[in-house]
Amino acid sequence: MRVFVTGATGFVGSATVAELISAGHQVTGLSRSDAGAETLTRAGATVARGDVTDLQRLRKAASGAEAIIHTAFNHDASADVRQQSENDRRVIATLGAALPKNAPLIITSGTGLVQSATGGPVTETDPHAPSSVFPRAAHVTDVARLYRLALENGQWGARYHAVTQQGVTLRAIAEVLGTHMGLPIQSLTPRQAPAYFGPLLQLAQLDLPASGTQTQQRLDWNPTGPDLLTDLRNTDYTTIS
Ligand SMILES: NC(=O)c1ccc[n+]([C@@H]2O[C@H](COP(=O)([O-])OP(=O)(O)OC[C@H]3O[C@@H](n4cnc5c(N)ncnc54)[C@H](OP(=O)(O)O)[C@@H]3O)[C@@H](O)[C@H]2O)c1
Repeated sequence: MRVFVTGATGFVGSATVAELISAGHQVTGLSRSDAGAETLTRAGATVARGDVTDLQRLRKAASGAEAIIHTAFNHDASADVRQQSENDRRVIATLGAALPKNAPLIITSGTGLVQSATGGPVTETDPHAPSSVFPRAAHVTDVARLYRLALENGQWGARYHAVTQQGVTLRAIAEVLGTHMGLPIQSLTPRQAPAYFGPLLQLAQLDLPASGTQTQQRLDWNPTGPDLLTDLRNTDYTTIS
């Protein structure tokens, strides 16, 4: 399949590009930089240069694709989340218009935007929360395989959760990161937290219980990557600047 991927140079997108190419798909990845274009070419993808905010160019770049996977998103923590979401809505509409009828368009959200109907972990059929709250844990290689499975076998309108784990606390994550990076680990009170986290506070204090069970069953998705804390323990922090 000819697949157009936005965010192809990002954390999720680059793993998805590699997964698609290794499964025999022809990938065109969107990049807004020379460095990104070079990385995509090395990965075996065709490059379309452009920024998602240039809708006319985006539509042209996406035309000819038989499927689109949209993972581009500007994660600038100081940006206006509502405006970012509105921009993303326009991008999704443009991508949809560039595709032939009934061709798959896979878009990316976060389980933090879904409301649990039962008070338990959010599932694939729970309603989206009517809020602008910013956006959970699965290994990126498993997430990339899920994009491919959704592309090849997904159902129109279905929602899939890239979730394999629940109950990983921010404290546990901070302890692993602090230990491996030689940083002090300190608990904060709710009064101290806003000054420390700044614009990331809303995200840091979210409790996001979510389930990917239906996704695993429907798409025969069998995650094999390490759990989050193991992955963080095995990360080479000397390469992170
Ligand atoms: N990673 C997670 O744990 C996680 C969890 C829940 C949801 N998500 C969602 O999954 C999606 C992908 O996340 P990610 O972690 O892969 O993000 P990421 O590493 O920040 O990558 C974002 C990608 O979007 C591209 N991009 C940003 N603004 C752009 C613009 N204006 N025009 C063109 N490209 C642009 C970036 O290009 P450059 O390389 O040029 O910067 C990059 O390729 C996002 O929607 C994110 O919210 C991720």
